[in-house]
Amino acid sequence: MNLESVQPVYPVLDRARKSGAFAQFALDELPLYSNSPSTLVGWNGQDRRVKTPDEVWREFQHDRWGEIERRSASMSNVTIEALEDFHSDSSVLQPFWMDAGFFIGTASQVLDLHVEWYYEVLSGHAAKASCLVELGAGFGSKILRLRQLPAFRDMPAFAGELTDAGCNLIKRCAGSIDVDLIVGHVDLGQDASTELAIPPGALIFTSYALHYQPELRRATWEFLDNLNPSNVVNFEPCEELYSELSLHGLLSRSYMQQNGYTPNIWSSLSEFCRGSGKSLNIRTNVLGDNPLLPISALEWSNFDD
Ligand SMILES: C[S@@+](CC[C@H](N)C(=O)[O-])C[C@H]1O[C@@H](n2cnc3c(N)ncnc32)[C@H](O)[C@@H]1O
Repeated sequence: MNLESVQPVYPVLDRARKSGAFAQFALDELPLYSNSPSTLVGWNGQDRRVKTPDEVWREFQHDRWGEIERRSASMSNVTIEALEDFHSDSSVLQPFWMDAGFFIGTASQVLDLHVEWYYEVLSGHAAKASCLVELGAGFGSKILRLRQLPAFRDMPAFAGELTDAGCNLIKRCAGSIDVDLIVGHVDLGQDASTELAIPPGALIFTSYALHYQPELRRATWEFLDNLNPSNVVNFEPCEELYSELSLHGLLSRSYMQQNGYTPNIWSSLSEFCRGSGKSLNIRTNVLGDNPLLPISALEWSNFDD
């Protein structure tokens, strides 16, 4: 049945709509005028799930990267594409977020967009950098690709990762595809530390790696700063940068709250930068391989750099 053909046009409503007396709004703007969306999506900023370090370890060491390690164990040639395919089928269509809108693309297209965007941002800092470093690098999907692009091809590169499984996968893949990369453990949590000997002047980045702690503490930023980097770029989901006045923002806040993701990445970094004479440049909610988890680019350095 075609509803339009049977829907009567009531002249009074038609006149009212066309009169300009009433402002119209989109569904995304409903939280501007009503509290119901925040109640319905369950966002209140307080009743957060808390992810413990044991849960994070289990998720990546045993489940996600551990599973990829098991599946790739018998392979003699471990390519990035093979690891990514184990992670999620690269041809499958998925919804994603880009520049304030929702799109559909294959997993490999969405990954390519991330790498191209990271390259655009990071290559702007390459001239001053002694080396390229990713911390919380997973199985190396981003750093292994970036390291092969022109601005970083002739620069030393380091990958730091929390889990043994992730470190092993990065080493195996770098060896197979003949990419020179120094790999070692890092913990970006409360007692942040690394076994990597990262030289001063490094261009350091993180990607979807800082939101696994109950809260971001100053110690994490101090740890990064004490490495004397030329620049740091954190490509991370920042709950505080999701608007409470849009439905998308509320859903994203609720998603982070229900998963126990870090609520204060933006405010803790802003406070650190204010208190220690750093410049901070933020591009908000640019890209998200999950439409409810868009990431921002937080670029920081000493003011005179
Ligand atoms: C979603 S994955 C992202 C991996 C990679 N950065 C990327 O964008 O493809 C999150 C990674 O952060 C790591 N991670 C979580 N907590 C960490 C911590 N406290 N210190 C260092 N890495 C951590 C996990 O082990 C995992 O490899």
